[in-house]
Amino acid sequence: MVVITIPKPKLFITRELPGGAIEKLRKYYEVEVWDKPTPPPRDVLLSKTRDIDALGSLLTDKIDKELIDGSSRLRIIAQYAVGYDNIDVNYATAKGIYVTNTPGVLTDATADLTFALILAVARRIIEAHDFVVSGKWWESKVAWHPSMMLGIELRGKTIGIIGMGRIGKAVARRALGFGMNVVYYDRGRLPEHEEEELKARYLPLEELLKTSDIVTVHIPLTQETRHLIREEHFKLMKRTAIFINTSRGGIVKTEDLVKALENKWIYGAGLDVFEEEPLQANHPLTKLPNVVLTPHIGSATWEARIAMADAVAENLIAFYEGRIPPNLVNPDVVRIRRPGF
Ligand code: GLV
Ligand code: GLV
Repeated sequence: MVVITIPKPKLFITRELPGGAIEKLRKYYEVEVWDKPTPPPRDVLLSKTRDIDALGSLLTDKIDKELIDGSSRLRIIAQYAVGYDNIDVNYATAKGIYVTNTPGVLTDATADLTFALILAVARRIIEAHDFVVSGKWWESKVAWHPSMMLGIELRGKTIGIIGMGRIGKAVARRALGFGMNVVYYDRGRLPEHEEEELKARYLPLEELLKTSDIVTVHIPLTQETRHLIREEHFKLMKRTAIFINTSRGGIVKTEDLVKALENKWIYGAGLDVFEEEPLQANHPLTKLPNVVLTPHIGSATWEARIAMADAVAENLIAFYEGRIPPNLVNPDVVRIRRPGF
């Protein structure tokens, strides 16, 4: 009897993922995992991807022409994120490589963090916490005072949501719970029933900026959206406005945001994403009052991060089985090559 063993396709994953997804993938793939907390250095990434069939990538891995050209067997890139601006998707498509992401499962986590930042800036939570733990409250002898640590109330205020995708809508739902008015800007308008359900009014970007008490960004980073928000936009905002970004840092021109905060064109900002990450120690943003900064943790809940790993596994297993992956971001690729190895 002749036993033919078909070698499993090779999969390289650029970081350990939480939950059981990687174990599950070992049934289908020969899996190698980069087990360090920092991303594989460029030369290591290039050499590791040279003879693989599938890649599990993170937003910190640059998947460009050079990498794709160097990996002649690569058939699928399964990104562990909803955003995929680190991947040259057009080039991957041209080369017949499937690209998938992990939408949906991190929507609520990101909308929660958005509200955490809104409330932290509006109610001065970080400053208040520091006041207590530094002993300054004790030293002040003032247990309670009518004008101590006053902030801004959300009820009746207008939230301007730039980008009404899944995350933008989840932010709108939360805003309704807080009694806020919702306005939004996007490339297209929502269907009428969705505008009604979310009580959301469409406004052109400039109108949204002039009208909103909170401005929050929920769009992907693309060539069209890079530096969408610049000096002239901050100048349109109310002097009492709070600016929130949990999407991608590159959507905002950072030096203009710093200028807006330094010159008090706006009241404050809550930022989870930056043009360069990690944010440099002593960056001008770290010196400003009324700014709350978090280290790109929008999807950082156990629930979301495990579900994202499961989505990566589902996408890779579907491809292995010759099915179209559920979260395919470049459907045009199907015309170039069928799914499967
Ligand atoms: C994280 O930023 C993501 O895009 O999922
Ligand atoms: C991402 O999930 C979005 O569409 O907002």
